[in-house]
Amino acid sequence: MKAIVEARNLHKVYRADGVETPALRGVDFSARAGEFTAIAGPSGSGKSTLLHLLGGLDRPSEGEVWLGGERLDDKSAVERARLRLWKVGFVFQAYNLIPVLTALENAAFVLELRGLPASERVPRARAALVELEMQDYADRRPNQLSGGQQQRVAVARALAAEPAVVFADEPTANLDSKTGLALIEYMKRLNREKGLTFVFSTHDPRLLDHVRRVVHLEDGRIVAEEGMG
Ligand SMILES: Nc1ncnc2c1ncn2[C@@H]1O[C@H](COP(=O)(O)OP(=O)(O)O)[C@@H](O)[C@H]1O
Ligand SMILES: [Mg+2]
Repeated sequence: MKAIVEARNLHKVYRADGVETPALRGVDFSARAGEFTAIAGPSGSGKSTLLHLLGGLDRPSEGEVWLGGERLDDKSAVERARLRLWKVGFVFQAYNLIPVLTALENAAFVLELRGLPASERVPRARAALVELEMQDYADRRPNQLSGGQQQRVAVARALAAEPAVVFADEPTANLDSKTGLALIEYMKRLNREKGLTFVFSTHDPRLLDHVRRVVHLEDGRIVAEEGMG
């Protein structure tokens, strides 16, 4: 099957205050629709950089990124933002919910940005909360939810938007191991039952026992891959 996201020979060098930090040094990566992939590696290995480039949040110093058949790396910031809005879901380590909005409003937020009327976005956001077993918390604000519950709302927000691919950057890093594993299980179920494509990163080797396809990053390079094809 065709890749939904593909990167060729990705290099990224950060330049700040005259200092150059090479974060990626020639990464080739692809994920097919319906795949569930972990990017594993220690802190500083380039996981966030890779996910940001794949999702169009940032541009590579060299190399190409293709998303759903469209080239991303040569697009302007405005065009990349439009592609992200329609094609990409993000889940971040720090949940990144909007504090003044309820769980339901947060889950509906991407659909609101797309201009969908409330009559369409509310049922979709509600259905997404049900999938994450968060329907009883629909009216709570983020500060009235535990970390694990906030992250389930963040996954519901991604799900409600039905993106081509969800990038989740260390989604379990702020959760205890039991809650973190439960979150991965929710994501796996959405992958299995809804066909939602996930690429998530982790520095926790214990989570990898639960994932078939694992890509190992070290020092900005892919050093091993398991569960290919
Ligand atoms: N905005 C930035 N400016 C300068 N260096 C950065 C920036 N972001 C990341 N880096 C550096 O790039 C390397 C890879 O970082 P990162 O992609 O965040 O790794 P990981 O997510 O695996 O911890 C590290 O050496 C990090 O210090
Ligand atoms: Mg990171």
